[in-house]
Parts: sequence; structure tokens; C-alpha cells
Amino acid sequence: MNEKDIKNLEEIFEQRIARDEKIEPKDWMPEKYRQTHIRQISQHAHSEIVGMLPEGNWITRAPTLRRKVALLAKVQDEAGHGLYLYSATETLGITREELYEQLHSGKAKYSSIFNYPAITWADMGAIGWLVDGAAIINQVALCTTSFGPYARAMVRICKEESFHQRQGFEILLTLCNGTEVQKAMAQDSLNRWWWPSLMMFGPPDAESTHTEQSMKWKLKRKSNDDLRQQFIDQTIPQAEILGIKVPDPDLKWNEKRKSYDFGEIDWEEFWQVVKGHGPCNKERINARIDAWEKGVWVRDAALAYAEKQSDKKLNKAV
Ligand SMILES: [Fe+2]
Ligand SMILES: [Fe+2]
Repeated sequence: MNEKDIKNLEEIFEQRIARDEKIEPKDWMPEKYRQTHIRQISQHAHSEIVGMLPEGNWITRAPTLRRKVALLAKVQDEAGHGLYLYSATETLGITREELYEQLHSGKAKYSSIFNYPAITWADMGAIGWLVDGAAIINQVALCTTSFGPYARAMVRICKEESFHQRQGFEILLTLCNGTEVQKAMAQDSLNRWWWPSLMMFGPPDAESTHTEQSMKWKLKRKSNDDLRQQFIDQTIPQAEILGIKVPDPDLKWNEKRKSYDFGEIDWEEFWQVVKGHGPCNKERINARIDAWEKGVWVRDAALAYAEKQSDKKLNKAV
């Protein structure tokens, strides 16, 4: 194919996206589109899977059977999200093994929020309320993104995330209506998760490298700063219902903007965690590598069984 042909194909491709048509795995796509989607969808898949770790930690210690069942279902949902998203990434021509390799070697990133520890039961509430809440705001727009398999996976994922957010809020509401000690536990949890949740929307617009191209491909509909503001405006009234305070002395309603003004985010902390120096980075990656290594015999057994079955079929055919 000469340069002119490629230019034509690119033009047709961009027009299809502009018309809101879905791009499917076998359609022609620019290499940059393919690579950007592999990076973004696999990063999303890794976040779902690593995100199971802080909460999985609390399944055996949930305070009641009802809470245990709900948490178990939530963590299982996250595994499902990871699996849809790994499958969607594979349609772009990369194998599951390569994707895991990238996670285990540190080449691929996942949401840095999961490098913070979940140290009390209230953290199960804060993670659901804030982390799943922030994830929904980031993800709703992806239901109409241009790459078909990603957009379709996101429809179901968003529905489940909204259930997760409500179960988290309900955990905190129960604690906030409980004893002084329980309420203090909820407040402490909000103190620790608030700022990392705001960091989930990524660096400020001025420093965000992929925004412009991602907007064009509908991988992004709003900028990081706009999404962060939307999250804050949505979440503060919920904190008021809970009766706990967001740990930001500069937080103030701005009547003119009809939005909350808020304090400076510690971006130095964000970059430290992204670079691997957060409180749990090593622990999370080691847990994933350990799971991969301990699962070798399961994968081998499944492959051996599949081979045996296909041999049987072959023998019958002969
Ligand atoms: Fe999820
Ligand atoms: Fe979730």
C-alpha cells in the first residue's frame, strides 16, 4: 500500500468515528489507534484485577454474613470486568500472556489508587463510594467510545460499578449512624481515600499527554480536570448526608461557578505512586505474580484436557 492509499484509509476511518460508527476488530485501523487501545484497555483490565486485592483482603473479616456476601459478589464482579476487558484487548492482536507479562514486569500500569492499603472495614465503604464512584465518572463516557468491543463491555461494567458505589455508601452510612467509634472509623477512612480518589482522574489537563488524540477517538469526552470537578460536586453533598468531612480546608462552594473550589492536590505523591513507590506497589505485583505462578498447573491441566478431547474427536473421525 502506498502513502496515498493509507491517507485515504485514514480519512475514511476518521469519518466513520465522526459519524459515531463503531470500529470492529477486523476493520482497518491506524497502528496508533490499535496501540493506544491496547494500552488503555489493558491498563483498565489490570486495574480491575489488581483492584480485587485490597477488598479481597476483607472478605474473611466482613462484620456480617450480608456484608460478606455483598463484598464477595463485588470482588467477583471486578474479576468479570477484568476478563471482559482482557478479551476486548486480545481482539486487537495481543495475547493474554503478553498482557500479563507487561503487568508483572511493570511495563503496563494500573490505577495507582490500588497501591494504598485497606486497613479498616470502613475502607470497604470508602473504596466503593469513592473509588467506584470516580471510576463510574471516568467510564460512563466509554460506553459510547469508538472501539466496539470496549464500548459494549463498558455498558455492563458501568451498571455493576453503580451497584458497587451504592454498597460502599451504604457501608459508610451504617457506620456513620452507629457508635462514635464507628463514625470516627468512617471519618478516618475518608481522610485517607479522599485525595487519592481525586488523583484517579489523572494529572492536570496542562500535563496530560494523551488528551487531544483520545478526545478525537472518543476515548475521552471530557478533560481530567472537568471530570475531577464533576466528581467533587457530586460527592460533597453525599459526604454531608453521611455527616463526615472531606479533609480539605480550602473546599468552598463557589456561587459564581456553581461548583466547589478545592485545595491543591499533592501531585508529587501521585507521581511517586505511579513510579512504583506507593505503600503497596510491590505487594500488589507480587500477589499477581504469585497467583500466575501458582496457577501454572491449572492452565497445564486445562490445556492437556483440551488436547485429549480434540484427539478423541480426531480418532473418531478417522
Ligand atoms: Fe470494576
Ligand atoms: Fe467496581
